[in-house]
Amino acid sequence: MIGKNLLSIADLKSGDIQRLIDSAIMLKRGGKKILLEGKLLALIFEKPSLRTRVSFDVAMKQLGGEAIYLSQAEVGLGQREPISDVARVLSRYVDGIVARTFAHKSVELLAKHASIPVINGLSNEEHPCQVLSDLLTIYEKKGKLKGLTLAYIGDANNVANSLLLATAIMGINFRIATPKGYEPELKLQKMAPMAHFTQDPKIAVENADVVYTDVWTSMGQEAESERRRASFAGYQVNQELLSLAKREVIFMHPLPAHHGEEIAEGLLESTQSVVFDQAENRLHMQKAILAKLLR
Ligand code: CP
Ligand code: NVA
Repeated sequence: MIGKNLLSIADLKSGDIQRLIDSAIMLKRGGKKILLEGKLLALIFEKPSLRTRVSFDVAMKQLGGEAIYLSQAEVGLGQREPISDVARVLSRYVDGIVARTFAHKSVELLAKHASIPVINGLSNEEHPCQVLSDLLTIYEKKGKLKGLTLAYIGDANNVANSLLLATAIMGINFRIATPKGYEPELKLQKMAPMAHFTQDPKIAVENADVVYTDVWTSMGQEAESERRRASFAGYQVNQELLSLAKREVIFMHPLPAHHGEEIAEGLLESTQSVVFDQAENRLHMQKAILAKLLR
């Protein structure tokens, strides 16, 4: 059973994920449902955001509640005051917290000290709300999850980590192609014993149902961006690479994208691209998550 918080995909069982997908589909079909009347959600963000911030805010409003956005400049999580104090104070005002942090430990500390649910809105280690929304998108496009093959090309970052865990739980074959030195951490590799790790994007993509990539330089790694551009040079997703996948392959990216880097110019507009459905589904999946945790 899903617990008080959603910090990592590893917190979930396959039944929890399937129930969240079913609930998101119902909410998407049913339009506005007032499930969280009068409830308040704090959004604490140490990093920038378009999708996560707006989709959580809109989700709360459409469910009858409200969201309060708090930037790092205002809260100073762990700087102006200890994270444990922020957690205990917010617990006296609001009904839930979404936190976007650098250190994953920060969302864990918030959850430990808050008496209200804490949702990870992206940390350096995971992006569970993104990947749950992506499972919804894949399920809508392919009609199933189990047995599909998802190829991830690029950096083993927060999104890749959550994908690795989610595919292992849902019985999706996961292949990941990363340059040497950019592989998922060993402890995560061990959590997905059936996953395939390679340095060759072509091997990863062969006959795949889903091809997924993300930026080479994540938020907070900007100082490394030049070195990363060189390391990832052969890892761009383009039509040539996609042509090795199944004919009905879908292409996914969490956005924001760097056109001409990890994706070829024009790829978002290709017939295979479902990236804007992914972005929309953040709203529907997060409504399901909020309804589950805040009610
Ligand atoms: N995909 C995603 O989380 O986007 P934002 O960084 O804009 O929230
Ligand atoms: N890996 C990216 C995802 C952004 C949604 C980052 O952390 O910046």
